[in-house]
Amino acid sequence: MKSGLEDVVAAETVLSDVDGKNGRLIVRGVSLDDLVMTSRFEDVVALLFDGFLPSPPDLRAALGAARVATFGQLADAGALVDLPPVEGVRALLARLADGDDLPTALELVAAPAVFTAGLLRLKAGLAPIAPDPELSQAADTLRMLCGSTPSAEQVSALDRYLVTVADHGLNASTFAARVVASTQAGLTSSVLAALSALKGPLHGGAPGPVLDMLDGVGRPDNADAWISAALADGERLMGFGHRVYRVRDPRADALKGAVRMLAASGAIDPERLALAEAVEAAALKQLRQRKPDRALDTNVEFYTALLLEALGFPREAFTCVFAMGRVAGWVAHAREQAETGRLIRPMSVYVGPAAREAA
Ligand code: CMC
Repeated sequence: MKSGLEDVVAAETVLSDVDGKNGRLIVRGVSLDDLVMTSRFEDVVALLFDGFLPSPPDLRAALGAARVATFGQLADAGALVDLPPVEGVRALLARLADGDDLPTALELVAAPAVFTAGLLRLKAGLAPIAPDPELSQAADTLRMLCGSTPSAEQVSALDRYLVTVADHGLNASTFAARVVASTQAGLTSSVLAALSALKGPLHGGAPGPVLDMLDGVGRPDNADAWISAALADGERLMGFGHRVYRVRDPRADALKGAVRMLAASGAIDPERLALAEAVEAAALKQLRQRKPDRALDTNVEFYTALLLEALGFPREAFTCVFAMGRVAGWVAHAREQAETGRLIRPMSVYVGPAAREAA
């Protein structure tokens, strides 16, 4: 048995390849470095869905229509605002019908953005803002959240984030989606399982705690002492380490670029950025000293935290924003599994007591 299924191959996929040794992510033959320069989120959805779902003539318009279709679910969502946002989004997603067709797929890709923005507004005592189907998913998400037209830099930063996280091999949430899809349960069931897996702090729940860490450190010159004390206490530093990458996570670089662009436009407090850079440097230095045998580098969540904070998302909703992008991969993997895979049914090793003899 391999604890955590480390290095176990459990699926064949044409969707994405995480090359942990070389720090590369390939999405359907395109490296992430190129993808973030050339593609919008809608292009990546089309790329991932290609061959697994029919292609609509205009995916951006179809996704806009799906946002409008899911908005109605917020009409009686007031009772959900006391839940953590990810649980509120999960409750609303559970109301969508199961299916394996394009309309179901598009509603699932649209829904996390519509539900997150709507629930955050309801929590703030404000009415949800209806989607504008003419806009891109990134622009409309920020508009539904803030009620005003976002800047081009803000739209571009959120779009880059969504592209960066859209798919990533057989991570825990994607595996959960594929396990459910292998039973032929339907796309909505797969996405619900995946979102539940994403919620945990060891997977998609890390960027909120990254900001807690920055707040705890407080000042750049405190970074070394704070990190040292945390590691001496046996804590894991959020935003560092990865099961597969043995070098720097390429997604961290893609998002660092977006953070720098936001900083240049004045959308990030330079002191916050300086603090983050000091914490990253101290963490990398001390992780190398303390765990010389394990390559622990910056992962996607570290710069995600700064980027989403600058875009106005509250930290308790960061996992929902991760889901806005990753849902594209979940749906594509679920379709691939349902079409090409078998029922996933591994074995366990029984380590309990032997059967008692009948008296
Ligand atoms: N801070 C301090 N020590 C760490 C960290 C960390 N972030 N990550 C791993 N280690 C240590 C760990 O304590 C262990 O030490 P020892 O051998 O002395 O017990 C050693 O490194 C190996 O750790 P592991 O448990 O085998 O690593 P894993 O592959 O199971 O865990 C991880 C991967 C991402 C869960 C882990 O690195 C971690 O907890 N990181 C912090 C949470 C985080 O940033 N999560 C987001 C991951 S990226 C998003 C995604 O793609 O899902």
